[in-house]
Amino acid sequence: MDRTRQALSVKPVELLFEEMAGAHRLKRVLGPVTLTALGIGCIIGAGIFVLTGLAANQYAGPGLVLSFVVAGIGCALAALCYAEFAAMVPVAGSAYTYAYATLGEVFAWIIGWDLVLEYAVAASTVAHGWSHYLDSFLGLFGRHLPQRWSGAPFDFDPATGHWGATGAVLDLPALLIVLALTGILVIGIRESARFNAAMVAIKVAVVLFVIVAGLPHVDASNWHPFLPFGWSGVMSGAAYIFFAYVGFDSVSTHSEEAKNPQRDIPIGIIASLAICTVLYILVAAVLTGIQRYDRIHLDAPVAEAFASLGMNTAVFIISVGAIAGLTSVLMVLMLSQTRVLLAMARDGLISERFFGDVHPKFQTPHRSTILVGILVAIVGATVPLKVLADLVNIGTLFAFVVVCSAVLVMRRTHPALDRPFRTPLVPFVPVAGVLVNLGMMFALSWENWLRLVVWLLVGLAIYFGYSQRHSRLALHLENELARGGLSPGGRALDD
Ligand code: ALA
Repeated sequence: MDRTRQALSVKPVELLFEEMAGAHRLKRVLGPVTLTALGIGCIIGAGIFVLTGLAANQYAGPGLVLSFVVAGIGCALAALCYAEFAAMVPVAGSAYTYAYATLGEVFAWIIGWDLVLEYAVAASTVAHGWSHYLDSFLGLFGRHLPQRWSGAPFDFDPATGHWGATGAVLDLPALLIVLALTGILVIGIRESARFNAAMVAIKVAVVLFVIVAGLPHVDASNWHPFLPFGWSGVMSGAAYIFFAYVGFDSVSTHSEEAKNPQRDIPIGIIASLAICTVLYILVAAVLTGIQRYDRIHLDAPVAEAFASLGMNTAVFIISVGAIAGLTSVLMVLMLSQTRVLLAMARDGLISERFFGDVHPKFQTPHRSTILVGILVAIVGATVPLKVLADLVNIGTLFAFVVVCSAVLVMRRTHPALDRPFRTPLVPFVPVAGVLVNLGMMFALSWENWLRLVVWLLVGLAIYFGYSQRHSRLALHLENELARGGLSPGGRALDD
């Protein structure tokens, strides 16, 4: 088959269903509450506990509340689109699989490759944040991690556009926590989900504690001026704080492990996002109400706001909650990454022998989990947090734009498919999703666009160099073509 035609071929939905019924599938053990907990497990983390500092202090001021609203709207619109796909095609792979069924193989590859930014690179970002919070926790007992072993060896200064050495060797705690969690993930999804549920309970309790304990200390005068950096500051804040929402879509990567995916995956996606949005807006209001925005701490803003009130017990509770929160985010991000790789491996776009190998006893993709763990650990230990966070944001926003567009395409190309969940108000919701998420992408600096483009070009080189030659779909389409079941464009004729 000619290569351009193959690149634009979509994976027939019947083929997805057929594969779902095949051997070597994952265990169906997750219900709606566990799925929502997995979502929250992936959402509340470095975004709220770490990035709010810089976002309030340097981008949005008290208008951070609005930044959370804008980013939350972008995510809600995307969530409604994810939910339609997740219910319609409940297989592992998330946006990657949706793009394969709608836009064509090369787009699916691009999204799969892009999701590495969302999951693996985000995990590295969070590992850094974890290490910072460990340090501030130890600080309560008068101890600190040695600087040489608790930071990235170099950093990027956006003002000068230069990279400089920091004097650190690597972030050792970031490296170690990732390796420890990798071990847990290899053992199994049920155990991972239990561990996650405990972590989620702790961090949600701590976030509620921040809101309730902080409220009496809010001084409304700190909210004036409300928009010290104007609306552009609100948008830059939204694009940066978007990181705090990253992860709700990870629920869709567990479709294959859900007991009743058609009902429970949409519930998991929408419920986890809704709960976190409300919590975030309240935390942002309390944080900017306790301290003037220009005094908000850059690395551990929530804990330091309470330290400024002399509430040391609260600082202790928050640090523990942050460490638990970041741990669960890290775990779910890595879990989601291996599930996307598994889907890609089954399609032959990456080595199935390696990434698709499910452990006979643990029934987890163990090799891929270990490889992802090692790479996340190395990147987390050596690349600075803000560089990683921005890269995650632009990559994830891009995935959201594609998923929103794909809903429109799919409604046109496969109108008759059974949709247990339908995105409401089509075309308004998907079109607004594209616009709001694109708006946030444009609020990120050009360096991030450049990094995204370079990343995608590397991905394309791999696609044309390896994946296209090993694609299972190509083989399937050749056979179909021979039987006369395909249109001349290489697309499946029917739903
Ligand atoms: N949303 C996740 C966090 O804030 C990635 O850590």
